[in-house]
Amino acid sequence: MMNNINSSETAMLDFSAWATEKQARIENVLNSTLPAANAMPQTLHNAMRYSALEGGKRVRALLCYAASELCGTDTKVADAAACAVELIHAYSLVHDDMPCMDDDDLRRGKPSCHKQFDDATALLVGDALQSLAFEVLSQTGLCAQTNHQISMLNILAKASGSTGMAGGQAIDSASVGKTISRADLEQMHQLKTGALIQAAVLLGGINGNIVKITALSTYAKNIGLAFQVIDDILDVEADSSTLGKTAGKDANNNKPTYVSILGLTDAKQHAQQLYNNALDALTPFGESALRLHELAGFITQRRF
Ligand code: IPE
Ligand code: IPE
Ligand code: MG
Ligand code: MG
Ligand code: MG
Repeated sequence: MMNNINSSETAMLDFSAWATEKQARIENVLNSTLPAANAMPQTLHNAMRYSALEGGKRVRALLCYAASELCGTDTKVADAAACAVELIHAYSLVHDDMPCMDDDDLRRGKPSCHKQFDDATALLVGDALQSLAFEVLSQTGLCAQTNHQISMLNILAKASGSTGMAGGQAIDSASVGKTISRADLEQMHQLKTGALIQAAVLLGGINGNIVKITALSTYAKNIGLAFQVIDDILDVEADSSTLGKTAGKDANNNKPTYVSILGLTDAKQHAQQLYNNALDALTPFGESALRLHELAGFITQRRF
């Protein structure tokens, strides 16, 4: 049996085992970080746990762990960084699904937070998950070097704020029904999705020297944009049960996407180009960047 597995399949199995282990790890960290469901106020805490646990590919955590392995970042720091990024991401999904934004009823195969609970709870879940992310990263004594910890807080704050994810979401909302230029589309995607993915890599790589961080930054910029290009493609090509969210939502909501602006073929070609650029950035690391290399493949070849 083993003889029939070629080397690339073996590498895939290794990646899959690595990813499964890290997904379980981040689930545990999130589980112990989130307030208990029976702690007051119970509805809010239940809804926070509902929105952040047991769902999602955990791509941002995986990127954070892979960069931390490459740069020798302390595991306690990597856990906190991965947890903070996944909390911000979960908050962004809760708000993204609300009626005032994408108005989506399905998320991670379950009713969206505002459907399961209500709009006010969903609003507060987002607020509280965001605060919890910064609580985790600002905990006393997390990093041996205080300047590292301040840098991490700064990276996450910028990536999630008005010149990062929230800004990208504002451009997204303002672009409904419009045909925007390719440059504006790229900027929107870079901000709403790329910024947090880039932060995940940079937080994991906080222990790296400037040469490593510069290369990681180029890798992350390309793979972050590729992530949203693929998300746009999947919205057209995949079905809701595979995605765990409503397929065809972008066209229904009149959103400009890589598919609506470039067409499917060119969107796929662009994702491939971004993947190639990301791998080029990893060249100096050789084998030590295997996980990041594999994650680039995972992001661009995913089916959900
Ligand atoms: C969905 O992100 C929202 C985007 C930024 C495109 P993911 O596809 O990473 O969602 P989960 O975490 O796996 O559910
Ligand atoms: C979401 O983009 C980006 C953020 C949540 C910041 P989308 O609106 O395309 O994400 P999905 O498709 O609903 O997951
Ligand atoms: Mg959206
Ligand atoms: Mg959406
Ligand atoms: Mg989408």
